[in-house]
Amino acid sequence: MTAQLDPNDLTTPLKHVRKALPHDSAAKHVSGKATYIDDMVEPVGTLHVVPGWSRQAVRGRILAMDLDEVQASPGVVAVLTAKDVPGKNDCSSAFGDDPVFAEDEILFYGQVAFAVVGETRDLARKAALKAKIDIAPITPILTAEDAVDADTTVLPDYQFRRGSPETGMNAAEEILTGSMKIGGQEHFYLEGQVAMAQPQEDGGMLVYSSTQHPTEIQHTVAKVLGVPDAAVTAEVRRMGGGFGGKESQANQWAALASVAASHTGRTCKIRLDRDDDMIMTGKRHDFKVNWQVGHDSEGRIRAVDMEFLARCGYSVDLSLGVNDRTLFHADSSYFYPDALIRSRRLRTDTCSNTAFRGFGGPQGMLAAERMIDAIAISLDKDPLEIRKLNFYDGERNLTPFGMPVEEFQVMHDLIAQLEESSDYWARRDDVRFFNENNAVLKKGLALTPVKFGISFTLKHLNQAGALVHLYTDGSIHLNHGGTEMGQGLYQKVAQVVAEEFGVSLNKVRITATNTSKVPNTGPTAASSGTDLNAMAAKLAAKEIKNRLITFLCELHQCGPEAIFFGDNKVVVGDQSFALSEVAKLAHMARIQLSHAGYYATPGITWERESATGRPFYYFAFGGACAEVTIDTMTGEMTVDRVDILHDVGHSLNPAIDLGQIEGGFVQGMGWLTTEELVWDEEGRLRTHAPSTYKIPTASDIPEEFNVRLYEGSGNPQATVYRSKAVGEPPVMLANAVFCAINDAVASLSPGVVPNLDAPATPEAIMKAVQDMRRRKIS
Ligand code: MTE
Ligand code: MOS
Repeated sequence: MTAQLDPNDLTTPLKHVRKALPHDSAAKHVSGKATYIDDMVEPVGTLHVVPGWSRQAVRGRILAMDLDEVQASPGVVAVLTAKDVPGKNDCSSAFGDDPVFAEDEILFYGQVAFAVVGETRDLARKAALKAKIDIAPITPILTAEDAVDADTTVLPDYQFRRGSPETGMNAAEEILTGSMKIGGQEHFYLEGQVAMAQPQEDGGMLVYSSTQHPTEIQHTVAKVLGVPDAAVTAEVRRMGGGFGGKESQANQWAALASVAASHTGRTCKIRLDRDDDMIMTGKRHDFKVNWQVGHDSEGRIRAVDMEFLARCGYSVDLSLGVNDRTLFHADSSYFYPDALIRSRRLRTDTCSNTAFRGFGGPQGMLAAERMIDAIAISLDKDPLEIRKLNFYDGERNLTPFGMPVEEFQVMHDLIAQLEESSDYWARRDDVRFFNENNAVLKKGLALTPVKFGISFTLKHLNQAGALVHLYTDGSIHLNHGGTEMGQGLYQKVAQVVAEEFGVSLNKVRITATNTSKVPNTGPTAASSGTDLNAMAAKLAAKEIKNRLITFLCELHQCGPEAIFFGDNKVVVGDQSFALSEVAKLAHMARIQLSHAGYYATPGITWERESATGRPFYYFAFGGACAEVTIDTMTGEMTVDRVDILHDVGHSLNPAIDLGQIEGGFVQGMGWLTTEELVWDEEGRLRTHAPSTYKIPTASDIPEEFNVRLYEGSGNPQATVYRSKAVGEPPVMLANAVFCAINDAVASLSPGVVPNLDAPATPEAIMKAVQDMRRRKIS
């Protein structure tokens, strides 16, 4: 019976998949019973590690480090420096340029120079402040502009070139140029960086780490300890948020805990103080974008030349993939007949910027929206009209990196639906009327698209493993390489496995991600956690089920069509058994009831060197319409209404997907409106606590917030139950808020393109408003 059912068909009855079930830990999250690493019972004798760093200099040569007073401080068990690293003093993912401890030089303000291992965290923190580090300062390079002048990069330049941008630009009727700054973003996960390392027999190490990438924790710990990978096990049950900030940036803390544990022979835990966390760890890359766009009299783009100057910080970290993804999304949803899209990966003496939800994509897309807005303003047309005019379609559907946008119709349909449900055109008139009748308050409206490529652009990361055991009592142990950071991955995978075995969800035991169960995994990132791990788990479950089917066929002398797994039963012809009975019988007949599933995304052929091939399995789409009001006397801004329509294919869990869309949007809105990172002239981060860094709160959610899932025909690719990834794309829905603010500012001086940088804080809005008044065309 199962054989005839197509799981991708919406009419197939499904028990667990496509259901709006709560997150597996929802009740534990709100009642405080979910165990995070800092909640784990500490083994007797656990020591606490605190990183030590110099407040003196941003960058400089270390002349002397006097740690005697630190060592003598009460409760101090050990003080560690680079010399105490038994293996390699490096915690980088790949490039070998992230020292665990500074050696001869301090590379940025906040770099770890030593670590205190103490009986308590408080005593260790007090001791760490007693260090005397003598540094000969070196004039730091801080901004993207400084780095361009000094020509310092962490990686070679890279670009996409399509057609002939020079010819295209010459042929254009109008050419617009501009530049904009796009700010970075602090992850502000509620659970900060934390790790606990427990020494094992024979030089082994068990590390609990709040990480999106357990395998990399394993590799890093093995590398710094100088032991084989097999001696190290990394485990994570859940993170209190990662958002990309624990993809590579968890390494250093796991390394410190492990070096301390190996040094003292005792369990060692490190939990960063929030200020240290914000100062030391990398953030979303900030950019300066220089752009030029040639278009015709209608506003159709002929050619673009975009230059993305990224501040990468002191090391490579994930800057290769992040900046590539910026280029992959510099088209937003628009066809560029001729394009030159350039990227510079600039080295600055600041913390090393890293993954952040969207992985560079949001910055690329925002620049595209700026060009569209500029065209619309200069032609006195509605920006939505210019957006739609430039959308990919049946003929004009090749991206600057050569991959066609096959689902352009989803994009058109989704935006058309949103245009209607948000009542865009009537509200456009209302906004105009409001602005004509209000001198101080100005409204703005914008409807912007999202198109986000799903897959890692580093090909080898597009693989996953899962381990499923069926026990003889019919209960199922589920493990996979993906990590849970609040996004609901564990729940979705469990639903898929329950569906496959036809059992209720409570029969499926979700277990912590562990490198000794599923090895050689990639990070849980690029939104592909479910696509990869649910598929691997489904294949593992299916394999066990197939073994049972073969066994039952022989036992009952029937064909596989007579067998059905569902409703917590195994039906064989007209007989029905509990899964536990079948499992027991199969076990007695010596049938293996465990399987390691493996999945690799098909069809990905991207070759970075030649910039050819297909980087993405598919695109996820979305659209948002935002209405804002700005106060031109104070710069204050409110988001009055937001309508969102978002494409997740056939949702595996609509409740979780809606949560991801709402959360992603609000996080994106924070990035573009209130979250401002400020470094002083000496390169010290001044916004290193919630007192000075403003993330959105519940009261920042738009007054009217309509969020819906797009109902289409599902993912055309054979993803798990035709679903689509949802983790990152919604961040870019927030571009609508930024464009609406821009629209409100633009209303002050028709025909003038505002100089509005991101984030559009009240200060930035005020500056743009004043600038508009100066530039008024009379
Ligand atoms: N949602 C929550 N609640 N917490 C998080 O840390 N991280 C985001 C997104 N949604 C995150 C989140 C990021 S950066 C990514 S890449 C995806 O979740 C990763 O999970 P997935 O691949 O399972 O969607
Ligand atoms: Mo997400 S930025 O890919 O961890």
